[in-house]
Amino acid sequence: MIPKHIAIVMDGNGRWAQRRGHPRVFGHVRGTARVKMIVREAQMLGVEALTLYAFSTENWRRPEHERRVLWSLLKKFLQREIGELARQNIRLRIIGERDRLDDDIREVIQRAEQSLAGMTGMELTFAVSYGARLELMHAARSFAEACIAGQVTPSSMSVAVMEQYLWAREVDLLIRTGGEKRLSNFLLWQSAYAECIFTECCWPDFGPRDLRQAIDEFQGRERRFGGLDAC
Ligand code: FPP
Repeated sequence: MIPKHIAIVMDGNGRWAQRRGHPRVFGHVRGTARVKMIVREAQMLGVEALTLYAFSTENWRRPEHERRVLWSLLKKFLQREIGELARQNIRLRIIGERDRLDDDIREVIQRAEQSLAGMTGMELTFAVSYGARLELMHAARSFAEACIAGQVTPSSMSVAVMEQYLWAREVDLLIRTGGEKRLSNFLLWQSAYAECIFTECCWPDFGPRDLRQAIDEFQGRERRFGGLDAC
């Protein structure tokens, strides 16, 4: 079975570039080209949702120059690829702290989301200024506000209700490139039973064949979700 939701931590851009004698940001440029390839491949394979970690709440600590390059790459991607995404029937979502972004980026995001709103195919989500702790905090706050407004009661909280307040659905396959073996505040709730694949391959080298290989490995795993039988 093809995983319904694949989430990817696109790591290793900076190291990939530095090893080749280039500035770190060159890795992000090459990484953006890989985003295009992986989106197309995932869509062709019949993946329902693909979530890519583009910028974490912690990435604000990066030097301003690197942040500026990342915003400009995201902006250009959304401006240039919109036609191609529409041709592939891809829906677009951005999750994270939108109000921290500059106005021009927010506008480009809004325009891109609007132009793809009618699409019915794969849901592509970019996590931008995203952190799972922040997402959970927002969910708790929204639920508390609904309680105060008398719309719900505290005892109505359940896993299913909690999920209505979250920004993304359950992850089946989580891939992290670049050799590190941690989740780095990415989709913590949604990855509770995700199959995780950590690869040494840095994101600018991660291609369609690597994605298919990860899916093969996923298909070979037995998912028991805490029970005794494979589900
Ligand atoms: C981690 O590599 C990667 C990021 C912080 C940014 C990922 C962004 C892109 C691939 C481009 C964004 C474009 C679009 C269209 C979403 P790192 O810099 O932390 O690598 P390192 O661990 O080698 O330092």
